[in-house]
Amino acid sequence: IKITIIDREGISHEVDAPTDMNMNLMELVRAYELAPEGTIGICGGMAMCASCQCYVESEHPLPEKSDDEEAMLAEAYYLKENSRLGCQIHIHPELDGLIVELAPES
Ligand code: FES
Repeated sequence: IKITIIDREGISHEVDAPTDMNMNLMELVRAYELAPEGTIGICGGMAMCASCQCYVESEHPLPEKSDDEEAMLAEAYYLKENSRLGCQIHIHPELDGLIVELAPES
């Protein structure tokens, strides 16, 4: 599937996202090196750091936020209504065409 990721400089990247690798959005950003090493995925995808915060800019069916994700976002900087933790969004076929923007580094 194709996912568009707008990096922290505002540059848009349309990338191929595999649906058969049990990957999440944070890992996808890292795989394509769209954010500098050490600025995203700091907690390793445990919903404990918010370094993977992103803003969802398209209408796609996303999983409900878990309590852990809600709690982490409540403490995050640069929070918006459409904020999600990238590590909590698994890539699956229904997300084809998803557009997300990375939140600023915090
Ligand atoms: Fe830490 Fe997502 S990588 S909350």
